[in-house]
Amino acid sequence: MPALLIGDEAPDFEVETTDGPIRFHDVIDGSWAVLFSHPKDFTPVCTTELGMTAKLKDEFAARGVKVFGVSVDPIEDHRAWIGDIKDTQGVALNFPLIADPDRKVATAYGMIHPNANDTLTVRSLFVIGPDKKIKLKIEYPASTGRNFDEVLRVIDSLQLTAKHQVATPANWKAGEDVIIVPAVSDEEAKEKFPGGWKTLKPYLRIVPAPK
Ligand code: BEZ
Repeated sequence: MPALLIGDEAPDFEVETTDGPIRFHDVIDGSWAVLFSHPKDFTPVCTTELGMTAKLKDEFAARGVKVFGVSVDPIEDHRAWIGDIKDTQGVALNFPLIADPDRKVATAYGMIHPNANDTLTVRSLFVIGPDKKIKLKIEYPASTGRNFDEVLRVIDSLQLTAKHQVATPANWKAGEDVIIVPAVSDEEAKEKFPGGWKTLKPYLRIVPAPK
């Protein structure tokens, strides 16, 4: 199956989760969503990642993002593992964890990289827009826990650039200046950014982030 790419429609699926059965497209309809895989239940890095995601519930909610974890373990394992997350991370799981023992989600999203491991997923993360298109994908190996501050940062960029004809520079954080995209002429920019901008090069125009 060809790899899913940015701009592709996020595949739909029906699965069991720790919050009950879902059809993915129904529950994400009109919302931003994050779907992220972790290789295996009852493993140390995954335990910290799920705890961190639960701690960031309000941050995801403030951005209107619905979060879903997935692993190729069965629902009974997920349910048994939840207690460990609470015990060790000090926070209860507060988002649905998808059980994918037949790997239909992992396969549809290309989360299994056979040269890394032919049965477990890597740490894939997809940000999906309200139009159900993939806006961003990030992949980490099993041994490296993700930086969830970076996940929130890229969501801020994706949501801003979806609304305005701007791009965000290296290491940008919400509230910092942005770049007017080259497709916008200076004439158009005068209307869109009446407060003005700084031209460092004709193709590099810096402007305060639109509200
Ligand atoms: C972990 O989450 O700690 C882990 C999972 C699979 C392989 C290596 C580490």
